[in-house]
Amino acid sequence: MTLTPLLIHECHLKIWELSAKKMPGLTIGDTIPDLQVETTHGRINLHHFCADGWTILFSHPGDFTPVCTTELGKMAQYSKEFYQRGVKLLGLSCDDLQSHNEWIKDIEAYTPGAKVNYPIIADRNREIIKQLNMVDPDEKDSDGNLPSRALHIVGPDMKIKLSFLYPATTGRNMDEVLRVIESLQKASKFKVATPANWKPGDPVVISPGVTNEQAKEMFNQGFETVDLPSKKEYLRFTKV
Ligand code: BEZ
Repeated sequence: MTLTPLLIHECHLKIWELSAKKMPGLTIGDTIPDLQVETTHGRINLHHFCADGWTILFSHPGDFTPVCTTELGKMAQYSKEFYQRGVKLLGLSCDDLQSHNEWIKDIEAYTPGAKVNYPIIADRNREIIKQLNMVDPDEKDSDGNLPSRALHIVGPDMKIKLSFLYPATTGRNMDEVLRVIESLQKASKFKVATPANWKPGDPVVISPGVTNEQAKEMFNQGFETVDLPSKKEYLRFTKV
């Protein structure tokens, strides 16, 4: 068999697809790779960008696509809320910078008042999405797999604290992104966790590793222990 350039290209795509399917990938607890990336705000070093604060790094399948246009507009609309909480935003798609810059005009027109003031990475070769575990194994174009709607929240220690992985057909809810940021920040500050359906302002639960004696010292405001059939005093609510 003669290896034509087309055949070689198809072999590369197949290998790429297989590795995308099997890849365990970057996940919570992992340190974000120290990559140099091209963005709409110039070249960025990921460790430099993520140092000393919180970062939301989020990908989307492609420029000039409907759900993505609504998502990036909403992200821009919420950006003030994120910045007030010490959180930086960094988007990604596999189109090039010229396309991103053209697309930003549509995003801002669709979401009036929203300014896309966060950088968007251009991952033309789809190498960055592999390293950041942002590949959608099911969405493809003629160049291979597209990014999924992945979202990593990176903590000040450069480690992934939370990840969402949504398919192309499901747009993300920025209220939920804000809610989980508040939860992560509370848990990093106090020995607490947030229960099911928690919203900012609701009571939080005291972490299981904290004894009642320690809890009395830590939470001057007091706490309430739920009386459960087991009589194990592990469900304790407080306000922080
Ligand atoms: C969208 O953004 O609307 C989209 C992108 C890729 C596949 C499906 C939907």
